[in-house]
Amino acid sequence: MRQYLTTPIYYVNGDPHVGHAYTSVLGDALRRITLMTGGEAFLSTGTDEHGQKNQEAAEKSGLAADEFLERQARRFRALFDRLDVRYDLFVRTTSSAHKTAVEEALRRLWDKDLIIRKLYRGLYCVGCEQFKKAKDLDPQGRCPDHLIVPTESEETNYFLRLAPYQEWLMELLELNDGLIDPPFYRGEVLAMLREPLEDLSISRPKSRVRLGVELPFDREYVAYVWFDALLNYIGNLGWPSDTPEFRLWWPAATHLMAKDIVKTHCIYWPIILRALGLEPPAGYRIHGYWVGEGGVKMSKSLGNVVEPNALIDRVGVDGLRYYLLRSMGSSDSPISDSLVVQAYNTDLANNIGNLFARVLRFAANEGRVPSPDSVYDEDAAILEWIARGAATALKGATLSAVPQLARTLIEMSTRLNSHVEVVAPWKLARTPGGGPRLDSAIYVLMECLRILAQLAWPIMPATSSSALQMLGASPLKEEPRLHDFLGSTLPKGAPIGAVGPLFPRIATD
Ligand code: MSP
Repeated sequence: MRQYLTTPIYYVNGDPHVGHAYTSVLGDALRRITLMTGGEAFLSTGTDEHGQKNQEAAEKSGLAADEFLERQARRFRALFDRLDVRYDLFVRTTSSAHKTAVEEALRRLWDKDLIIRKLYRGLYCVGCEQFKKAKDLDPQGRCPDHLIVPTESEETNYFLRLAPYQEWLMELLELNDGLIDPPFYRGEVLAMLREPLEDLSISRPKSRVRLGVELPFDREYVAYVWFDALLNYIGNLGWPSDTPEFRLWWPAATHLMAKDIVKTHCIYWPIILRALGLEPPAGYRIHGYWVGEGGVKMSKSLGNVVEPNALIDRVGVDGLRYYLLRSMGSSDSPISDSLVVQAYNTDLANNIGNLFARVLRFAANEGRVPSPDSVYDEDAAILEWIARGAATALKGATLSAVPQLARTLIEMSTRLNSHVEVVAPWKLARTPGGGPRLDSAIYVLMECLRILAQLAWPIMPATSSSALQMLGASPLKEEPRLHDFLGSTLPKGAPIGAVGPLFPRIATD
Protein backbone atom coordinates (compact mmCIF):
# COMPACT_ATOMS: atom_id res chain seq x y z
CA MET A 1 0.00 0.00 0.00
CA ARG A 2 1.26 3.47 -0.87
CA GLN A 3 0.02 6.32 1.30
CA TYR A 4 0.71 10.02 1.17
CA LEU A 5 -0.59 11.01 4.60
CA THR A 6 -1.33 14.67 5.18
CA THR A 7 -2.36 16.60 8.26
CA PRO A 8 -4.05 19.97 8.01
CA ILE A 9 -1.58 22.82 8.07
CA TYR A 10 -2.30 24.71 11.23
CA TYR A 11 -2.98 28.40 11.74
CA VAL A 12 -0.23 29.97 13.78
CA ASN A 13 -2.29 32.71 15.40
CA GLY A 14 -1.88 30.93 18.74
CA ASP A 15 0.38 28.27 20.19
CA PRO A 16 -0.13 24.64 19.24
CA HIS A 17 -2.62 22.82 21.42
CA VAL A 18 -3.48 19.22 21.94
CA GLY A 19 -5.85 19.13 18.93
CA HIS A 20 -3.00 20.04 16.59
CA ALA A 21 -0.69 17.63 18.37
CA TYR A 22 -3.20 14.84 17.90
CA THR A 23 -3.68 14.99 14.13
CA SER A 24 0.07 15.07 13.57
CA VAL A 25 0.65 12.20 16.00
CA LEU A 26 -2.14 10.30 14.25
CA GLY A 27 -0.37 10.87 10.93
CA ASP A 28 2.82 9.56 12.48
CA ALA A 29 1.12 6.44 13.88
CA LEU A 30 -0.52 5.70 10.52
CA ARG A 31 2.81 6.21 8.79
CA ARG A 32 4.47 3.73 11.14
CA ILE A 33 1.62 1.19 10.73
CA THR A 34 1.85 1.48 6.96
CA LEU A 35 5.61 0.84 7.05
CA MET A 36 5.22 -2.07 9.45
CA THR A 37 2.75 -3.78 7.17
CA GLY A 38 5.09 -3.51 4.21
CA GLY A 39 3.67 -0.35 2.63
CA GLU A 40 5.22 2.94 1.62
CA ALA A 41 4.31 6.18 3.36
CA PHE A 42 5.07 9.88 3.15
CA LEU A 43 3.79 12.22 5.85
CA SER A 44 3.39 15.96 5.50
CA THR A 45 2.42 18.46 8.16
CA GLY A 46 3.07 22.17 8.60
CA THR A 47 1.75 25.64 9.20
CA ASP A 48 -0.78 27.87 7.46
CA GLU A 49 0.67 31.34 7.86
CA HIS A 50 -1.48 33.56 5.68
CA GLY A 51 -4.89 35.18 6.04
CA GLN A 52 -6.68 37.59 8.27
CA LYS A 53 -6.52 35.74 11.56
CA ASN A 54 -2.76 35.23 11.41
CA GLN A 55 -2.38 38.85 10.37
CA GLU A 56 -4.42 40.07 13.34
CA ALA A 57 -2.38 37.90 15.72
CA ALA A 58 0.89 39.16 14.24
CA GLU A 59 -0.26 42.75 14.74
CA LYS A 60 -1.21 42.05 18.34
CA SER A 61 2.15 40.41 19.07
CA GLY A 62 4.03 43.63 18.40
CA LEU A 63 6.56 41.71 16.30
CA ALA A 64 7.21 42.14 12.62
CA ALA A 65 4.90 39.74 10.73
CA ASP A 66 7.72 37.50 9.47
CA GLU A 67 9.29 37.26 12.93
CA PHE A 68 5.95 36.35 14.45
CA LEU A 69 5.26 33.69 11.81
CA GLU A 70 8.75 32.26 12.14
CA ARG A 71 8.48 32.02 15.92
CA GLN A 72 5.05 30.39 15.80
CA ALA A 73 6.00 27.92 13.07
CA ARG A 74 9.02 26.97 15.18
CA ARG A 75 6.75 26.23 18.15
CA PHE A 76 4.57 23.89 16.09
CA ARG A 77 7.55 22.15 14.61
CA ALA A 78 9.27 21.80 17.99
CA LEU A 79 6.17 20.22 19.48
CA PHE A 80 5.87 17.70 16.65
CA ASP A 81 9.58 16.90 16.97
CA ARG A 82 9.21 16.46 20.69
CA LEU A 83 6.26 14.13 20.08
CA ASP A 84 8.39 11.92 17.80
CA VAL A 85 6.33 12.77 14.73
CA ARG A 86 8.47 11.60 11.83
CA TYR A 87 7.13 13.85 9.11
CA ASP A 88 8.81 13.66 5.74
CA LEU A 89 7.99 17.29 5.08
CA PHE A 90 7.07 20.28 7.22
CA VAL A 91 5.54 22.91 4.97
CA ARG A 92 5.20 26.61 5.70
CA THR A 93 2.88 28.50 3.37
CA THR A 94 5.29 31.42 3.45
CA SER A 95 7.96 29.29 1.72
CA SER A 96 8.81 30.17 -1.85
CA ALA A 97 8.09 26.65 -3.12
CA HIS A 98 4.57 26.84 -1.75
CA LYS A 99 4.01 30.31 -3.21
CA THR A 100 5.07 29.06 -6.63
CA ALA A 101 2.42 26.35 -6.50
CA VAL A 102 -0.31 28.82 -5.49
CA GLU A 103 0.65 31.35 -8.16
CA GLU A 104 0.76 28.71 -10.84
CA ALA A 105 -2.62 27.30 -9.85
CA LEU A 106 -4.13 30.78 -10.02
CA ARG A 107 -2.50 31.47 -13.37
CA ARG A 108 -3.80 28.23 -14.85
CA LEU A 109 -7.36 28.77 -13.66
CA TRP A 110 -7.24 32.35 -14.96
CA ASP A 111 -5.91 31.22 -18.34
CA LYS A 112 -8.68 28.64 -18.55
CA ASP A 113 -11.23 31.43 -17.96
CA LEU A 114 -12.54 29.75 -14.86
CA ILE A 115 -12.23 32.81 -12.64
CA ILE A 116 -14.80 35.59 -12.49
CA ARG A 117 -14.78 38.94 -10.66
CA LYS A 118 -17.84 40.24 -8.82
CA LEU A 119 -19.18 42.10 -5.80
CA TYR A 120 -20.14 39.86 -2.88
CA ARG A 121 -21.88 40.58 0.36
CA GLY A 122 -21.73 38.07 3.19
CA LEU A 123 -21.09 37.22 6.83
CA TYR A 124 -17.44 36.45 7.45
CA CYS A 125 -16.15 34.41 10.41
CA VAL A 126 -12.46 35.19 10.89
CA GLY A 127 -12.12 32.14 13.16
CA CYS A 128 -13.10 29.86 10.27
CA GLU A 129 -11.75 32.21 7.61
CA GLN A 130 -14.99 31.48 5.78
CA PHE A 131 -18.26 33.11 4.77
CA LYS A 132 -21.20 31.78 6.74
CA LYS A 133 -24.85 31.44 5.86
CA ALA A 134 -27.46 32.64 8.36
CA LYS A 135 -28.61 29.03 8.76
CA ASP A 136 -25.09 27.97 9.84
CA LEU A 137 -25.21 30.26 12.89
CA ASP A 138 -26.51 29.56 16.40
CA PRO A 139 -29.70 31.23 17.74
CA GLN A 140 -27.59 34.21 18.91
CA GLY A 141 -26.25 34.66 15.40
CA ARG A 142 -22.78 33.34 16.33
CA CYS A 143 -20.51 30.88 14.53
CA PRO A 144 -21.09 27.65 16.50
CA ASP A 145 -17.37 26.75 16.40
CA HIS A 146 -15.93 30.09 17.47
CA LEU A 147 -18.87 31.64 19.34
CA ILE A 148 -18.30 35.00 17.67
CA VAL A 149 -20.74 36.99 15.57
CA PRO A 150 -19.40 37.05 11.98
CA THR A 151 -18.78 40.47 10.44
CA GLU A 152 -20.73 41.79 7.46
CA SER A 153 -18.46 42.21 4.51
CA GLU A 154 -19.07 43.65 1.08
CA GLU A 155 -16.24 43.45 -1.39
CA THR A 156 -15.31 42.82 -4.96
CA ASN A 157 -13.41 39.56 -5.25
CA TYR A 158 -12.39 36.86 -7.68
CA PHE A 159 -14.38 33.65 -7.69
CA LEU A 160 -14.11 30.09 -8.91
CA ARG A 161 -17.47 28.73 -10.02
CA LEU A 162 -18.17 25.45 -8.26
CA ALA A 163 -21.59 24.61 -9.71
CA PRO A 164 -20.21 23.14 -12.98
CA TYR A 165 -18.42 20.46 -10.92
CA GLN A 166 -21.25 19.63 -8.58
CA GLU A 167 -22.60 16.60 -10.43
CA TRP A 168 -19.17 15.18 -11.05
CA LEU A 169 -18.36 15.40 -7.35
CA MET A 170 -21.66 13.81 -6.32
CA GLU A 171 -21.01 10.94 -8.63
CA LEU A 172 -17.47 10.54 -7.35
CA LEU A 173 -18.75 10.26 -3.79
CA GLU A 174 -21.61 7.99 -4.70
CA LEU A 175 -19.35 5.57 -6.53
CA ASN A 176 -16.70 5.61 -3.84
CA ASP A 177 -18.14 4.64 -0.52
CA GLY A 178 -14.70 4.24 1.07
CA LEU A 179 -13.45 7.69 0.09
CA ILE A 180 -14.49 9.33 3.33
CA ASP A 181 -13.93 7.42 6.56
CA PRO A 182 -16.12 7.30 8.64
CA PRO A 183 -18.98 7.08 6.10
CA PHE A 184 -21.18 9.39 8.15
CA TYR A 185 -19.28 12.37 6.72
CA ARG A 186 -19.78 11.15 3.20
CA GLY A 187 -23.50 11.47 3.90
CA GLU A 188 -22.96 14.99 5.20
CA VAL A 189 -20.98 16.03 2.16
CA LEU A 190 -23.56 14.52 -0.18
CA ALA A 191 -26.24 16.47 1.68
CA MET A 192 -24.25 19.69 1.14
CA LEU A 193 -24.00 18.83 -2.53
CA ARG A 194 -27.77 18.57 -2.81
CA GLU A 195 -27.94 22.34 -2.19
CA PRO A 196 -26.73 24.69 -4.94
CA LEU A 197 -22.98 25.34 -4.60
CA GLU A 198 -22.09 29.00 -4.41
CA ASP A 199 -19.07 30.39 -6.23
CA LEU A 200 -15.92 30.19 -4.11
CA SER A 201 -14.20 33.47 -3.44
CA ILE A 202 -10.50 32.86 -4.03
CA SER A 203 -9.17 36.34 -3.27
CA ARG A 204 -9.00 39.04 -0.62
CA PRO A 205 -8.27 42.70 -1.31
CA LYS A 206 -4.89 43.76 0.04
CA SER A 207 -6.61 46.69 1.71
CA ARG A 208 -7.95 44.11 4.18
CA VAL A 209 -5.49 41.20 4.08
CA ARG A 210 -1.81 41.61 3.32
CA LEU A 211 -0.54 38.22 4.45
CA GLY A 212 -0.97 36.10 1.36
CA VAL A 213 0.15 35.22 -2.13
CA GLU A 214 -0.47 38.02 -4.64
CA LEU A 215 -2.79 37.15 -7.50
CA PRO A 216 -0.63 37.00 -10.64
CA PHE A 217 -3.43 38.73 -12.60
CA ASP A 218 -4.29 41.47 -10.07
CA ARG A 219 -1.63 42.80 -7.72
CA GLU A 220 -4.23 44.51 -5.53
CA TYR A 221 -5.36 41.13 -4.21
CA VAL A 222 -3.94 38.15 -2.39
CA ALA A 223 -5.18 34.57 -2.66
CA TYR A 224 -7.89 33.53 -0.21
CA VAL A 225 -6.21 31.67 2.64
CA TRP A 226 -8.10 28.41 2.08
CA PHE A 227 -7.34 28.31 -1.63
CA ASP A 228 -3.72 28.97 -0.73
CA ALA A 229 -3.57 26.38 2.06
CA LEU A 230 -5.21 23.48 0.21
CA LEU A 231 -2.61 23.72 -2.52
CA ASN A 232 0.07 22.64 -0.04
CA TYR A 233 -1.01 19.07 -0.60
CA ILE A 234 0.33 19.07 -4.15
CA GLY A 235 2.93 21.84 -3.75
CA ASN A 236 4.62 19.58 -1.16
CA LEU A 237 5.31 17.09 -3.93
CA GLY A 238 6.88 19.66 -6.20
CA TRP A 239 3.80 20.45 -8.32
CA PRO A 240 3.57 22.34 -10.75
CA SER A 241 6.75 20.55 -11.83
CA ASP A 242 6.17 17.01 -12.92
CA THR A 243 8.49 15.62 -10.23
CA PRO A 244 9.07 11.93 -9.44
CA GLU A 245 7.56 12.66 -5.99
CA PHE A 246 4.39 14.02 -7.54
CA ARG A 247 4.05 11.03 -9.83
CA LEU A 248 4.72 8.64 -6.95
CA TRP A 249 2.43 10.10 -4.28
CA TRP A 250 -0.42 11.78 -6.11
CA PRO A 251 -3.31 10.87 -6.01
CA ALA A 252 -2.40 8.30 -3.31
CA ALA A 253 -3.20 10.94 -0.69
CA THR A 254 -5.06 10.34 2.55
CA HIS A 255 -6.07 13.62 4.15
CA LEU A 256 -6.40 13.53 7.95
CA MET A 257 -8.42 16.17 9.78
CA ALA A 258 -11.09 16.86 12.36
CA LYS A 259 -14.67 17.39 11.30
CA ASP A 260 -14.36 21.20 11.32
CA ILE A 261 -12.81 21.36 7.89
CA VAL A 262 -14.69 18.71 5.97
CA LYS A 263 -16.40 21.12 3.57
CA THR A 264 -13.21 22.82 2.42
CA HIS A 265 -11.45 19.49 1.94
CA CYS A 266 -14.22 17.34 0.53
CA ILE A 267 -15.93 19.95 -1.67
CA TYR A 268 -13.60 22.83 -2.52
CA TRP A 269 -10.42 20.80 -2.79
CA PRO A 270 -11.50 18.09 -5.26
CA ILE A 271 -13.14 20.80 -7.37
CA ILE A 272 -9.97 22.92 -7.40
CA LEU A 273 -8.01 19.82 -8.44
CA ARG A 274 -10.53 18.97 -11.13
CA ALA A 275 -10.43 22.53 -12.46
CA LEU A 276 -6.65 22.17 -12.67
CA GLY A 277 -7.01 18.88 -14.52
CA LEU A 278 -5.72 16.81 -11.58
CA GLU A 279 -7.05 13.70 -9.84
CA PRO A 280 -8.95 13.90 -6.54
CA PRO A 281 -7.24 12.49 -3.42
CA ALA A 282 -7.67 8.79 -2.62
CA GLY A 283 -9.14 9.22 0.84
CA TYR A 284 -10.17 11.26 3.83
CA ARG A 285 -10.03 10.25 7.47
CA ILE A 286 -12.11 12.46 9.71
CA HIS A 287 -11.78 12.39 13.48
CA GLY A 288 -13.83 14.02 16.23
CA TYR A 289 -12.95 16.96 18.46
CA TRP A 290 -11.04 16.91 21.67
CA VAL A 291 -13.41 18.47 24.08
CA GLY A 292 -12.79 20.03 27.41
CA GLU A 293 -15.09 20.12 30.37
CA GLY A 294 -18.74 20.59 29.45
CA GLY A 295 -18.15 19.06 26.03
CA VAL A 296 -17.12 22.36 24.44
CA LYS A 297 -14.67 22.27 21.53
CA MET A 298 -11.17 23.14 22.61
CA SER A 299 -9.86 26.11 20.71
CA LYS A 300 -7.55 29.05 21.02
CA SER A 301 -10.45 31.47 20.67
CA LEU A 302 -12.32 29.89 23.57
CA GLY A 303 -9.30 29.68 25.88
CA ASN A 304 -10.02 26.13 27.17
CA VAL A 305 -6.94 24.55 25.76
CA VAL A 306 -4.92 21.64 27.24
CA GLU A 307 -1.25 22.61 26.99
CA PRO A 308 0.60 19.69 25.37
CA ASN A 309 4.13 20.63 26.50
CA ALA A 310 3.09 20.86 30.14
CA LEU A 311 1.33 17.51 29.86
CA ILE A 312 4.40 15.91 28.30
CA ASP A 313 6.46 17.20 31.24
CA ARG A 314 4.13 15.23 33.46
CA VAL A 315 3.35 11.99 31.60
CA GLY A 316 6.15 11.87 29.03
CA VAL A 317 5.87 11.88 25.25
CA ASP A 318 4.54 8.33 25.10
CA GLY A 319 2.11 8.94 27.94
CA LEU A 320 0.49 11.68 25.88
CA ARG A 321 0.73 9.80 22.58
CA TYR A 322 -0.91 6.79 24.22
CA TYR A 323 -3.84 8.79 25.57
CA LEU A 324 -4.41 10.63 22.30
CA LEU A 325 -4.17 7.58 20.09
CA ARG A 326 -6.18 5.18 22.20
CA SER A 327 -9.02 7.62 22.92
CA MET A 328 -9.93 9.37 19.69
CA GLY A 329 -12.19 7.91 17.03
CA SER A 330 -14.83 9.46 14.88
CA SER A 331 -16.75 10.96 17.81
CA ASP A 332 -15.66 13.65 20.24
CA SER A 333 -13.36 12.65 23.06
CA PRO A 334 -12.76 14.36 26.39
CA ILE A 335 -9.31 15.34 27.55
CA SER A 336 -7.94 16.94 30.70
CA ASP A 337 -4.70 16.61 32.62
CA SER A 338 -6.28 14.29 35.16
CA LEU A 339 -7.82 11.97 32.53
CA VAL A 340 -4.42 11.59 30.90
CA VAL A 341 -2.65 10.90 34.20
CA GLN A 342 -5.33 8.40 35.18
CA ALA A 343 -4.99 6.47 31.89
CA TYR A 344 -1.22 6.58 32.27
CA ASN A 345 -1.29 5.10 35.75
CA THR A 346 -3.93 2.46 35.01
CA ASP A 347 -2.84 1.23 31.58
CA LEU A 348 0.84 2.07 31.39
CA ALA A 349 2.30 2.13 34.92
CA ASN A 350 0.12 -0.52 36.59
CA ASN A 351 -0.42 -2.79 33.62
CA ILE A 352 2.37 -2.74 31.01
CA GLY A 353 5.03 -1.25 33.30
CA ASN A 354 4.24 -3.70 36.05
CA LEU A 355 4.39 -6.62 33.63
CA PHE A 356 7.85 -5.68 32.42
CA ALA A 357 9.09 -5.17 35.96
CA ARG A 358 7.79 -8.54 37.13
CA VAL A 359 9.27 -10.49 34.24
CA LEU A 360 12.55 -8.66 34.00
CA ARG A 361 13.19 -9.02 37.73
CA PHE A 362 13.85 -12.72 37.10
CA ALA A 363 16.01 -12.24 34.04
CA ALA A 364 17.93 -9.46 35.78
CA ASN A 365 19.14 -11.91 38.46
CA GLU A 366 21.22 -13.67 35.83
CA GLY A 367 21.58 -10.63 33.57
CA ARG A 368 20.74 -12.90 30.63
CA VAL A 369 17.88 -14.20 28.54
CA PRO A 370 17.18 -17.72 29.91
CA SER A 371 18.07 -20.70 27.68
CA PRO A 372 15.41 -23.32 28.35
CA ASP A 373 16.00 -26.74 26.79
CA SER A 374 12.33 -26.99 25.99
CA VAL A 375 9.25 -24.83 26.27
CA TYR A 376 6.27 -26.03 28.32
CA ASP A 377 2.90 -26.33 26.59
CA GLU A 378 1.13 -23.60 28.54
CA ASP A 379 3.98 -21.21 27.71
CA ALA A 380 3.91 -22.17 24.05
CA ALA A 381 0.17 -21.49 24.03
CA ILE A 382 0.49 -17.95 25.34
CA LEU A 383 3.28 -17.18 22.90
CA GLU A 384 1.15 -18.38 20.05
CA TRP A 385 -1.77 -16.25 21.25
CA ILE A 386 0.42 -13.14 21.35
CA ALA A 387 1.99 -13.82 17.94
CA ARG A 388 -1.40 -14.39 16.36
CA GLY A 389 -2.77 -11.25 17.99
CA ALA A 390 0.16 -9.22 16.69
CA ALA A 391 -0.36 -10.48 13.16
CA THR A 392 -3.97 -9.32 13.14
CA ALA A 393 -3.54 -6.13 15.20
CA LEU A 394 -2.41 -4.03 12.28
CA LYS A 395 -5.37 -4.37 9.99
CA GLY A 396 -4.78 -1.61 7.47
CA ALA A 397 -4.03 1.98 8.26
CA THR A 398 -7.62 3.02 8.90
CA LEU A 399 -8.78 5.46 11.54
CA SER A 400 -10.15 2.74 13.82
CA ALA A 401 -6.97 0.64 13.50
CA VAL A 402 -5.10 3.07 15.73
CA PRO A 403 -7.18 2.98 18.94
CA GLN A 404 -7.67 -0.72 18.24
CA LEU A 405 -3.92 -1.26 18.29
CA ALA A 406 -3.59 0.67 21.55
CA ARG A 407 -6.32 -1.46 23.09
CA THR A 408 -4.68 -4.65 21.83
CA LEU A 409 -1.48 -3.74 23.66
CA ILE A 410 -3.42 -3.40 26.91
CA GLU A 411 -5.37 -6.63 26.37
CA MET A 412 -2.16 -8.50 25.69
CA SER A 413 -0.50 -7.04 28.75
CA THR A 414 -3.51 -7.90 30.93
CA ARG A 415 -3.46 -11.48 29.71
CA LEU A 416 0.30 -11.76 30.23
CA ASN A 417 -0.05 -10.40 33.78
CA SER A 418 -2.59 -13.15 34.47
CA HIS A 419 -0.23 -15.71 32.99
CA VAL A 420 2.48 -14.49 35.36
CA GLU A 421 0.04 -14.97 38.27
CA VAL A 422 -0.73 -18.51 37.17
CA VAL A 423 2.88 -19.50 36.56
CA ALA A 424 4.00 -17.74 39.77
CA PRO A 425 7.71 -17.59 38.93
CA TRP A 426 8.52 -16.45 42.47
CA LYS A 427 7.23 -19.84 43.73
CA LEU A 428 9.10 -21.78 41.03
CA ALA A 429 12.28 -20.00 42.06
CA ARG A 430 11.88 -21.44 45.53
CA THR A 431 10.74 -24.92 44.38
CA PRO A 432 13.50 -27.54 44.22
CA GLY A 433 13.74 -28.73 40.59
CA GLY A 434 11.67 -25.77 39.40
CA GLY A 435 14.52 -24.40 37.26
CA PRO A 436 13.50 -25.75 33.80
CA ARG A 437 9.89 -24.67 34.31
CA LEU A 438 11.05 -21.22 35.44
CA ASP A 439 13.42 -20.84 32.49
CA SER A 440 10.68 -21.81 30.04
CA ALA A 441 8.21 -19.37 31.61
CA ILE A 442 10.58 -16.40 31.74
CA TYR A 443 12.00 -17.04 28.29
CA VAL A 444 8.54 -17.20 26.75
CA LEU A 445 7.34 -14.19 28.70
CA MET A 446 10.33 -12.24 27.44
CA GLU A 447 9.51 -13.32 23.91
CA CYS A 448 5.96 -12.08 24.43
CA LEU A 449 7.31 -8.79 25.76
CA ARG A 450 9.54 -8.46 22.72
CA ILE A 451 6.55 -8.79 20.42
CA LEU A 452 4.52 -6.42 22.60
CA ALA A 453 7.34 -3.85 22.52
CA GLN A 454 7.64 -4.04 18.76
CA LEU A 455 3.92 -3.83 18.30
CA ALA A 456 3.90 -0.68 20.43
CA TRP A 457 6.18 1.13 17.96
CA PRO A 458 3.44 3.09 16.13
CA ILE A 459 1.87 4.24 19.39
CA MET A 460 4.87 4.67 21.74
CA PRO A 461 8.07 4.60 19.70
CA ALA A 462 10.53 5.64 22.40
CA THR A 463 9.14 3.15 24.92
CA SER A 464 9.24 0.49 22.25
CA SER A 465 12.99 1.08 21.84
CA SER A 466 13.82 1.24 25.52
CA ALA A 467 11.77 -1.88 26.25
CA LEU A 468 13.61 -3.78 23.54
CA GLN A 469 16.91 -2.61 24.92
CA MET A 470 16.03 -3.89 28.38
CA LEU A 471 15.11 -7.25 26.89
CA GLY A 472 18.47 -7.47 25.15
CA ALA A 473 16.74 -7.48 21.73
CA SER A 474 18.23 -5.61 18.84
CA PRO A 475 16.86 -2.11 18.40
CA LEU A 476 14.18 -1.63 15.77
CA LYS A 477 15.26 -0.68 12.31
CA GLU A 478 13.94 2.56 10.85
CA GLU A 479 11.22 0.63 9.11
CA PRO A 480 10.44 -2.49 11.10
CA ARG A 481 8.39 -5.02 9.19
CA LEU A 482 5.80 -7.01 11.06
CA HIS A 483 6.68 -10.30 9.37
CA ASP A 484 10.37 -9.79 10.21
CA PHE A 485 9.82 -9.40 13.89
CA LEU A 486 7.22 -12.13 14.11
CA GLY A 487 9.78 -14.44 12.49
CA SER A 488 12.65 -13.53 14.82
CA THR A 489 13.32 -14.62 18.40
CA LEU A 490 15.29 -13.37 21.38
CA PRO A 491 18.75 -14.91 21.36
CA LYS A 492 18.84 -17.43 24.22
CA GLY A 493 21.47 -16.63 26.80
CA ALA A 494 22.10 -13.12 25.40
CA PRO A 495 22.89 -10.39 27.93
CA ILE A 496 19.96 -8.15 28.73
CA GLY A 497 20.14 -4.37 29.00
CA ALA A 498 19.94 -2.20 32.09
CA VAL A 499 16.52 -2.66 33.63
CA GLY A 500 14.57 0.33 34.93
CA PRO A 501 10.92 1.23 35.32
CA LEU A 502 9.25 1.63 31.92
CA PHE A 503 6.45 3.85 33.17
CA PRO A 504 7.14 5.24 36.66
CA ARG A 505 3.86 5.79 38.49
CA ILE A 506 2.72 9.39 38.69
CA ALA A 507 1.64 10.60 42.09
CA THR A 508 -1.83 12.15 42.20
CA ASP A 509 -3.23 14.12 45.07
N1 MSP B 1 -5.40 26.20 8.45
C1 MSP B 1 -6.58 25.42 8.41
C2 MSP B 1 -6.31 24.09 7.71
C3 MSP B 1 -5.80 24.19 6.33
S1 MSP B 1 -5.45 22.62 5.68
C4 MSP B 1 -5.27 22.84 4.05
C5 MSP B 1 -7.06 25.14 9.82
N2 MSP B 1 -6.17 25.27 10.81
S2 MSP B 1 -6.45 24.96 12.36
O1 MSP B 1 -5.28 25.43 13.07
O2 MSP B 1 -7.69 25.49 12.76
O3 MSP B 1 -6.44 23.42 12.46
C6 MSP B 1 -7.61 22.64 12.38
C7 MSP B 1 -7.23 21.20 12.59
O4 MSP B 1 -6.44 21.06 13.79
C8 MSP B 1 -8.39 20.24 12.80
O5 MSP B 1 -8.97 19.80 11.60
C9 MSP B 1 -7.69 19.13 13.55
O6 MSP B 1 -6.87 18.40 12.70
C10 MSP B 1 -6.81 19.91 14.50
N3 MSP B 1 -7.55 20.35 15.69
C11 MSP B 1 -7.54 21.61 16.18
N4 MSP B 1 -8.33 21.64 17.30
C12 MSP B 1 -8.86 20.44 17.52
C13 MSP B 1 -9.68 19.88 18.51
N5 MSP B 1 -10.13 20.56 19.53
N6 MSP B 1 -9.97 18.58 18.41
C14 MSP B 1 -9.48 17.80 17.40
N7 MSP B 1 -8.70 18.29 16.46
C15 MSP B 1 -8.41 19.62 16.46
O7 MSP B 1 -8.22 24.77 9.97
